[in-house]
Amino acid sequence: MERITRTDDRVHRPAGPWTPTVHRLLAHLHEQGFVAAPEPIALGDVLETVSFVPGVAGDYPWTEDVAGEAALVTSARLLRQYHDAAASYPRDPDADVWSQAERAPVETIVHGDFAPYNCVYDGIAAVGLIDFDTAHPGPRVWDVASAVYRFAPFTTGQVEGATAPHLADRLARAAEFCRAYGLDDRSRGVLVQTMTASLVAMVTTIETEAAAGNPKFTSDLEHGHADLYRADVAWIEQHADDIAAAVA
Ligand SMILES: Nc1ncnc2c1ncn2[C@@H]1O[C@H](COP(=O)(O)OP(=O)(O)O)[C@@H](O)[C@H]1O
Ligand SMILES: [Mg+2]
Repeated sequence: MERITRTDDRVHRPAGPWTPTVHRLLAHLHEQGFVAAPEPIALGDVLETVSFVPGVAGDYPWTEDVAGEAALVTSARLLRQYHDAAASYPRDPDADVWSQAERAPVETIVHGDFAPYNCVYDGIAAVGLIDFDTAHPGPRVWDVASAVYRFAPFTTGQVEGATAPHLADRLARAAEFCRAYGLDDRSRGVLVQTMTASLVAMVTTIETEAAAGNPKFTSDLEHGHADLYRADVAWIEQHADDIAAAVA
C-alpha cells in the first residue's frame, strides 16, 4: 500500500504521536481564516485523514510555473500568512507533542519543511500548504531560511527545472523571497546562520534516525541526502557574505 493515499477529496497519511497536536494546529489555522492548509478530518492509531488541497504540489522537476518569479513571491506571501495565523495557536504544554524540539525565540508555530514540494500551486500561484508533520514552536526565520535554501536554491546538487543557474540569479531570488515575506531586519541578520543550522539539524536527524532503523531516514541516507546537506553547508559558508549582503 502507498504510504499516502487519496480518496476523492480526502488524503490518508501515517499518523505519529504529534498528529493530534498538528490537527489542533490545522483547526486553529482554519478558525483564523487560513484555508490554504488541509482541514483535519479524522485521526486513527495509524492513519490520519485530512482534506485534499486542490492544485499541484511543486515536486521536482519544477515546472516552468513553479520555477518562475510569481510562484516565488506567492509562496513567500503564503508563508507569511501561515505564520501570522499560527502565531495565535493556543499552546498547551501539557497536551502539545511536536515531532521537533522547540527553538528559541518562539514567535509562531513554524512549518518545519517549507519548500516548493510542500506548497500546492494553481498555475503560477501558491494556493496551498501541506505536510505539517515537522511543525513546531520557533522563530519565523527558521522557516524563511530553509525556504530560501529550497527556493533560491542554494544547493550544490542539481535542481531539475530550476531556472536560476547563476549565483546572481539565486541571490536575487533569495532577496525577493525575503521582500515578499516582509522579513524584519533582525531576522535578515541571522538568516545565513539559521540556514546552515537547519541543514546541520537535518543531517543529525537523518543520521540518528537511520542508526535507529527508521526506514524513511535509512533511505534518505542511502540516497546521499546527509552528504548533500553537508556539502551545501560548506558551500553556503563559502558564499555567506554574498548571501548576507543580498538579503540585508
Ligand atoms: N492534503 C493534501 N492535499 C493535496 N495533496 C496532498 C495532501 N497531502 C499530501 N498530498 C500529496 O502527497 C504528496 C506527499 O505528501 P506529503 O504530505 O508532502 O508527505 P511526504 O512529503 O512526507 O511524502 C504531496 O507532494 C502531495 O502531492
Ligand atoms: Mg512533503
